[in-house]
Amino acid sequence: MAPDRDGEKRRAAERSLAFIENGMTIGLGTGTTAAHMIRLLGERIEAGLRVRAVPTSTATRRAAERARIPLVNLDECPALDLAIDGADEVDPTFDLIKGGGGALLHEKIVAVASRRLVVVVDESKMVDRLGRFPLPVEVSRFGWRVVAERIAALGTRPALRTGEGGIPAVTDEGNYILDCGFGTIGDTGALARALDAIPGVIEHGLFVAMADTVIVGQARGVAVLHRRP
Ligand code: A5P
Repeated sequence: MAPDRDGEKRRAAERSLAFIENGMTIGLGTGTTAAHMIRLLGERIEAGLRVRAVPTSTATRRAAERARIPLVNLDECPALDLAIDGADEVDPTFDLIKGGGGALLHEKIVAVASRRLVVVVDESKMVDRLGRFPLPVEVSRFGWRVVAERIAALGTRPALRTGEGGIPAVTDEGNYILDCGFGTIGDTGALARALDAIPGVIEHGLFVAMADTVIVGQARGVAVLHRRP
């Protein structure tokens, strides 16, 4: 029988709520796993939990509004207690690939604003080495082909992400996304630095040494993993 990935996501999301305490301000991630967490958090708030939250995308903002979660923005509240977010891949050192849902820029800013980043994933996201999932890189629309050439020189063939009708997908900040298959990534820190150095790269989906806790939803139950100090 095929694994029930959605059930795994739901179980991971549910377990992450245990990290939320009354009075906290939390970052709300983007994606299908985060969507479970947002819905369940709404139920806790309905039952009396008091928290405020910063959404990482328009989609998450809408979901949080539907769940009646009180929202603030990062300028009003630049220090968050906790962020809970999904990931596309997680390696054994808790380095991540994120951005499958296109929200990597806001997700990374929210992650650095948070005292703790809790990642919620299904079992398929746990990998020995990052890189099977094409790395999303958010780039300037102006001169994006030039930026893509510079990225290609790092050993990939960047693919412009498109939506319906083949029209380029645009992020919440109005940028393009290049999906960059690098194959197995040997040195995540080195690749992150190389991408950071390219003019026109706004952000990339490598989250290096940022996650503190990873909650893996399993067929029955969850595994809660903490980063070694
Ligand atoms: C959104 O931009 C991404 O970083 C998501 O967190 C990631 O793609 C995981 O998404 P799912 O929870 O939908 O798998």
